[in-house]
Amino acid sequence: MIVYLNGKFLPLSEARVSVLDRGFIFADGVYEVIPVYGGRLFRLQEHLQRLENSLAAIKLHNPLTQQQWIETLESLVAQRDDQSDQSVYLQITRGPAKRDHNFPEQVKPTVFIMSEPLQPKPPSSGVKAITRPDMRWQRCDIKSIALLANVLQRREAIEMGAAEAILIRDGYIMEGAASNVFIVVDGVAITPPKSQLILPGITRDLILEAMQAAQLPCREADIPESQLRSASEIWITSSTREILPVIMLDDKQVGSGKPGTVWSQVFQIYQDYKLKLRTHD
Ligand code: PDD
Repeated sequence: MIVYLNGKFLPLSEARVSVLDRGFIFADGVYEVIPVYGGRLFRLQEHLQRLENSLAAIKLHNPLTQQQWIETLESLVAQRDDQSDQSVYLQITRGPAKRDHNFPEQVKPTVFIMSEPLQPKPPSSGVKAITRPDMRWQRCDIKSIALLANVLQRREAIEMGAAEAILIRDGYIMEGAASNVFIVVDGVAITPPKSQLILPGITRDLILEAMQAAQLPCREADIPESQLRSASEIWITSSTREILPVIMLDDKQVGSGKPGTVWSQVFQIYQDYKLKLRTHD
């Protein structure tokens, strides 16, 4: 596998970073995950904008220009000669420095990019989810590589035979450990509004945009825990999992216990979007 590290394309086995890298020592860095369909980076501008926002929030200068990002990402994607779907992972850390919580003014950020095959689990039968108190920090809008809380909460879900942990803060639904959440109430899809307590998901935004274009009812609103528990549908959404219907929540059936009718409409719209991207010149 060919990866990109600090200006060079090289085999993964040859990619090396310093053990003093602040990413390794402090998780001092940010990342993005971008899906690639038919060789094309999906919603690239939106991902690069979110990256810019994350970098600004951690006071790290973007080491590449927009144009350099596009060229570098496209070159890496082209390394895989098949047209299979890919998931690009990119990470920028504050780079190597003497260990000190305070960071030096002059740093050389580490930029790492890799691409892996993307195979979302077929969602036809739906998945289980559990709920957990949100134990993360107050800036979940930053796509930070410091993910220990998310890692532990996803692990708990897997140990319970579930695909995701839905996080609850002060009685309200935030998002999944690595996904956004939608519910359906009386035929209306609802997702929590953007704030510093959730990641502004690119898939989430696309779903809202596509539903509005198709005149399907949807809105952004706070979701109390009781509303999650009585919803007729629950979905989790992300770049790698697309739109997954949740059919069991904490061992209680969601709606009919099968993927819902609103989900199947939105899922189809999403697939059409991907197809358009694949066939578009
Ligand atoms: N995670 N919320 C969190 C906490 C996430 O980690 C993710 C995605 C999302 C969905 O965002 P998007 O639709 O832009 O993928 C929401 C990625 C896929 C990951 O960490 O692998």
